[in-house]
Amino acid sequence: MNMDVLVSLSKRRGFVFQSSEIYGGTGSCWDYGPLGVELKSNIKRVWWRDFVQSRADMVGIDASILMHPTVWKASGHLDHFTDPMVDCRECKHRFRSDHVDALPWVHYCPATKGNKFTIPAGEPCGHCGQRRTLCPECGKGELTAPRQFNLMFKTFMGPVEEDASVTYLRPETAQAMFVNFDNVLQSMRLKLPFGIAQAGRSFRNEITPGNFIFRTREFEQMEIEYFVNPNDRVDGRPADEYWHDRWIEDCMAWFRRYGLTAGNLRLREHEKDELAHYAKRTVDIEYKFPIGWSELMGIANRTDFDLKQHSKWSGKSLTYFDDERKEHVVPYVVEPAAGVDRALLAFMADAYREEEVRGDKRVVLKFHPELAPLKVAVLPLLKKRDDIVRAAHTIRADLAKHWRVVYDDTAAIGRLYRRQDEVGTPYCVTVDVQTVGDSERGETGDSRVTIRERDSMEQIRVPIAELTAIFRELLDGAAWSQVSARYPAPRG
Ligand code: GAP
Repeated sequence: MNMDVLVSLSKRRGFVFQSSEIYGGTGSCWDYGPLGVELKSNIKRVWWRDFVQSRADMVGIDASILMHPTVWKASGHLDHFTDPMVDCRECKHRFRSDHVDALPWVHYCPATKGNKFTIPAGEPCGHCGQRRTLCPECGKGELTAPRQFNLMFKTFMGPVEEDASVTYLRPETAQAMFVNFDNVLQSMRLKLPFGIAQAGRSFRNEITPGNFIFRTREFEQMEIEYFVNPNDRVDGRPADEYWHDRWIEDCMAWFRRYGLTAGNLRLREHEKDELAHYAKRTVDIEYKFPIGWSELMGIANRTDFDLKQHSKWSGKSLTYFDDERKEHVVPYVVEPAAGVDRALLAFMADAYREEEVRGDKRVVLKFHPELAPLKVAVLPLLKKRDDIVRAAHTIRADLAKHWRVVYDDTAAIGRLYRRQDEVGTPYCVTVDVQTVGDSERGETGDSRVTIRERDSMEQIRVPIAELTAIFRELLDGAAWSQVSARYPAPRG
């Protein structure tokens, strides 16, 4: 599967548009269109329901994006949230030096009378020992030595642009959970272990963003800070290590539950030398994106680093009173951190299928019904018949009290079905002559409609009065075969 196919489908069918496209676009910023916004909010909704609403040990917050600038000093972002950057002296392109190192390079070796070699990524020439010095974009310009570049977006709070009013757009949602630790603990009277969750925007001035919505400068995160008592043991293991493994399993299971193929998911343990300054252990869940295996989310054991840092810089105690041991402890924290946009890209890529149906190509997004942007499309078989159109509009309005449901009469039925397949709508309802009858011939309708299921393309004939109950069953997780067994196939 090629990323261009997803980019093109996204634009054509209203999932994702390039930001400010009519002005030539804004670097690596993307806008979610009418279907994209539904898909994205469904992802966030099920994440919140499964990891916050349904758990007794979780609560949520929604913090402001602009925080006190000292937050970023305490967290280490001002000093450490950098990427090494190199510039081409010729074409002025800017790269992350680790990305340049990850590319093979062409070298005319002076030690072998200028023979041409393609040297593998990250390696020096085996003959002269020289490392890559030329730009991978233009191939001519010398690259500068790496310099550290801070990824935070700087701005000014208030009307005066002076050093004292500098502040930053948050580069992660996590810090607000640490800063609000005591507020949440006291207001909710929580006992360890417990977690605070937040979903919201983050901003990073990435040096080399790209690959569609995979790496952007403005994105959304769904993060959890799960606090545990470091003195506790669970199943004979330190509580932080136990809970770290539990969260890895739960997050993997969550992605599979909503449709990601097990073979497209894997875990990657961070090597000791790549661990972030705060982490005792980090495991990434990687997905086989169209660009190859890459990080979908990270699950880190951040120890007590953040609470201790904020305590030090704010002068406020951020501890928990352990009733049993009669002592104050600084909790350890396990952090499952996912990107909403990356999750959306993975769900789209995994759902995408091209199938052959009676000699025609059918493109279908096999979204999990909970994620599908539209749940039902109501389609009149004949748009010239007022009674059919009226009945279809009434059905749409009734179903739309519960789900996102659309009406479409802008093409023949075969084309309408294909359009809904392409955006992943799990069910279509078709209203036809049999439904409403033919008053001119004195024929009354049967008040039944046809439901077509996206994946099997099977159809059943059901009473209009039962539609809401049927969709409630199906959209609550019942198998199509279980429901379809109760109803006949349409005639003809
Ligand atoms: N609080 C920890 C943290 O922010 P991270 O690995 O830097 O960890 C977590 O980010 C997740 O956020 C990533 O796994 C990814 O899904 C998403 N993410 C990070 N940077 C991103 C970017 N520039 N564009 C899109 N998503 C991004």
